[in-house]
Amino acid sequence: MAMQRTFSIIKPDATRRNLTGAINAMLEGAGLRIVAQKRIRMTQEQAEGFYGVHKERPFFNDLVTFMTSGPVVVQVLEGEDAVVKNREVMGATNPVEAAEGTIRKTHAENIEANSVHGSDSPENAEIEINFFFDEDEIVG
Ligand code: CMP
Repeated sequence: MAMQRTFSIIKPDATRRNLTGAINAMLEGAGLRIVAQKRIRMTQEQAEGFYGVHKERPFFNDLVTFMTSGPVVVQVLEGEDAVVKNREVMGATNPVEAAEGTIRKTHAENIEANSVHGSDSPENAEIEINFFFDEDEIVG
């Protein structure tokens, strides 16, 4: 498997509890390299655009409100099979269903405030990376 990039967000519930370092340690421990990272306050337009695929879902408005409620850390992660590796270390969307030792099992508060986002495919990773980063901000 070749080197791959994926996109990650440390969400407001995690930055509020000062868990950026703890989560980064879990990402690095899983063999992922943080090759770009910035702490931002997402605008409503950014959150609506980023989660546009969920527009018709009942939780969409709450999700946008939550994602703009505090700082987030957007990241590019690099490694072999990075998309799958990141999804494994994140754990299931709902922390109740997440495996022991995963980020969401360890840190998430509930299905919405679930501490991290990670791309679900290499194709979406590229789209999501381009949504927040210019190529010259990514240093592998
Ligand atoms: P994420 O991986 O960022 O992708 C979409 C987000 O929507 C998800 O994590 C959760 O934060 C949120 N989400 C997904 N399903 C639900 C749900 N049933 N209720 C509330 N929030 C949800």
